Amino acid sequence: MSSLNRDHKKTTVLLASSANDLAEAAHILRHGGIVALPTETVYGLAANGLSSQAIARIFAAKNRPLNNPLIFHVKDQHRAKNLFDFSGLNPQVAIRFELLAASFWPGPLTMIAKKAPHIPKIATGNLASVAVRVPESEATRTIMGMLDFPLVMPSANLSTRPSPTCAEHVIKTLCGRIDAVVDGGTCDVGIESTIIKIDAEEVQILRPGMIDNQELEACLKEKVRPVTAQHHERPLAPGQSYLHYSPSVFSVELRHPSQITDEWHGEHIIFARTSDFLALEKERGERAKSAINILLSDDAKQYAAELYDALYACERSPEKTLVIISPPPDGEEWRAILDRLTRSAGVGQSPS
Ligand code: TXA
Ligand code: MG
Repeated sequence: MSSLNRDHKKTTVLLASSANDLAEAAHILRHGGIVALPTETVYGLAANGLSSQAIARIFAAKNRPLNNPLIFHVKDQHRAKNLFDFSGLNPQVAIRFELLAASFWPGPLTMIAKKAPHIPKIATGNLASVAVRVPESEATRTIMGMLDFPLVMPSANLSTRPSPTCAEHVIKTLCGRIDAVVDGGTCDVGIESTIIKIDAEEVQILRPGMIDNQELEACLKEKVRPVTAQHHERPLAPGQSYLHYSPSVFSVELRHPSQITDEWHGEHIIFARTSDFLALEKERGERAKSAINILLSDDAKQYAAELYDALYACERSPEKTLVIISPPPDGEEWRAILDRLTRSAGVGQSPS
């Protein structure tokens, strides 16, 4: 157990490198507690996925609307399969599941199909389907191996705030609201998993992530339907219609580099890929010494890994307007990042 614990009254900080701490996390989960765990995408807030009471604590701690379903996390493909009900379905559904699981798990892919009857309704927001993922983080896999139930794990942040990619981010929004956090360092991928829905006819992406259409299509040897606009009345992935990833600053705007005018020499925070920033600087001259510039990588994978930490860094200046300079809209590798940036600027969403 870490000494940080003294600073956080009710939320214990456990260390991923300590076998005792991992056993302690498993113990808390077995007793109906809620614990933030590292994964390769973002930190998740875990509870016993078969206990309605433990699951209810997650919705309360995150301030999450009850109609926004949770993702189940298990250690392997076999345990994942037990959470679905493939009986009576077109055999193509199970075949697609097996192919994708073999290629991408453990990893940043979440699959949705018809749920098994034993899954509590509260976990799926009353939907007939369930979302399942096998995460890669070693510490979390060790904890899952000690448990005889699946975990539900939404991202470990207060609803509407950016997702956490390190234990400090979790503490920032959930300290005192959850029992513990296992500190496993920084997440490699940095943005949430790709979510797909498997039907008899096709596979559709509901939330873009770092596993893209092309990779899924190469595995399935068939077309995958890309993300379509979500209708507010009946969204396919309910969480996708809420305000998300929103840092606590005065306001957030997303602009194409050509739309940057007075902001350049104003007090706004400029948030950009390094190459876009340098190109603007060449055109318009240096910004004021006091101006805040948040520069991210030109490489999409690296940018994703830096994204949420950079959004949290902007919160050091809560009174300022954040101007995010949009990466290219046509690059497939930037699609998931653009999705998160658009949501963080609150374009086309309603607050949850
Ligand atoms: O990478 C991730 O997926 C992370 C880590 C912790 O694994 N988890 C995560 O969970 O992002 P969360 O709760 O923040 O996002 C889950 C999304 C929501 O948009 C939710 O509406 C959707 O998945 N979802 C869950 N179950 C669903 C279902 N049965 N049908 C449609 N959408 C579902
Ligand atoms: Mg989330």
